Amino acid sequence: MTTPSIEDQLTEAALARLANDANPRFKTIITAVIRHLHALVREVELTEEEWFEAIKFLTATGQKCDDKRQEFILLSDVLGVSMLVDAINHRRPTGATENTVLGPFFVHGAKEIPIGGDMAAGWDGAPTIVSGTVRGTDGKPVANALLDIWQSDDDGHYDVQLPTFNEKQLRAKLHTDQDGRFWFRTIKPSSYPVPVDGPVGLILDRMGRHPMRPAHIHFIISAPGYETCSTHLFVSGDDYLESDAVFGVKSSLIVDFKRNDSQAEAQKWNVKAPFYTTTYDFVLSPAQGSKSQKVIAASDAVA
Ligand code: BEZ
Ligand code: FE
Repeated sequence: MTTPSIEDQLTEAALARLANDANPRFKTIITAVIRHLHALVREVELTEEEWFEAIKFLTATGQKCDDKRQEFILLSDVLGVSMLVDAINHRRPTGATENTVLGPFFVHGAKEIPIGGDMAAGWDGAPTIVSGTVRGTDGKPVANALLDIWQSDDDGHYDVQLPTFNEKQLRAKLHTDQDGRFWFRTIKPSSYPVPVDGPVGLILDRMGRHPMRPAHIHFIISAPGYETCSTHLFVSGDDYLESDAVFGVKSSLIVDFKRNDSQAEAQKWNVKAPFYTTTYDFVLSPAQGSKSQKVIAASDAVA
């Protein structure tokens, strides 16, 4: 009888080394990691040069990370892993607003603005009024729900990407009124590329993919007793809705931004014409038991 070669034995040998008393959930995950990594290496018959390229790529990805840049999250985003994790963790009842990818540009501690406030004061761009309501799946308005909102500037940069960054901008927190309503002023967002000056840019290029995200505004909506919803509103008609670099678009989140040229209307909203209006009714599902509600910013990963 011939003994099986190391090539055939190695997966079972690596799995057999796991301690019996390892944390059960950790054991489930690391077992799958070992199995899938070994299967990948076998499937493509990885060469030593390719293995070393992969090691260099992961090293460079880590080296690109700091308190403002999280290249591993970006890698997870462009490979569709972030949206898969998001989908598995936020299965919602029909009618509830869908989640989408958080992205690396959320930061804690945006300033609070009142209803009707301007989160883009002093920024170039097309004035835009965003209005809507927050309700439960039972249709009841959610009073005092918190909306944490952020977006890029007219050139597609978030504040933390600007060399002049020294305070949080194009970000705001806002609470709904007694009837669950909100409105605020901002600028119309534009499509933008995910950062491509690092290893993720190289891998996108090698895959023959563009780095663009369709124009959107980010929202995290939370209220006691409801599941926190982290989502975007996408601008209808955007060129990249079908090919978002991070797979974040859901048709239920695409909204019209309607142009309005009326000076009189503009004055009513305290903006300059022409301006845009858009509206959305967010629907929160009831909180599920002990599920964690903490939103993790990319910068938390280096804390
Ligand atoms: C964003 O929408 O801010 C974003 C999401 C994923 C990767 C890069 C940016
Ligand atoms: Fe974004």
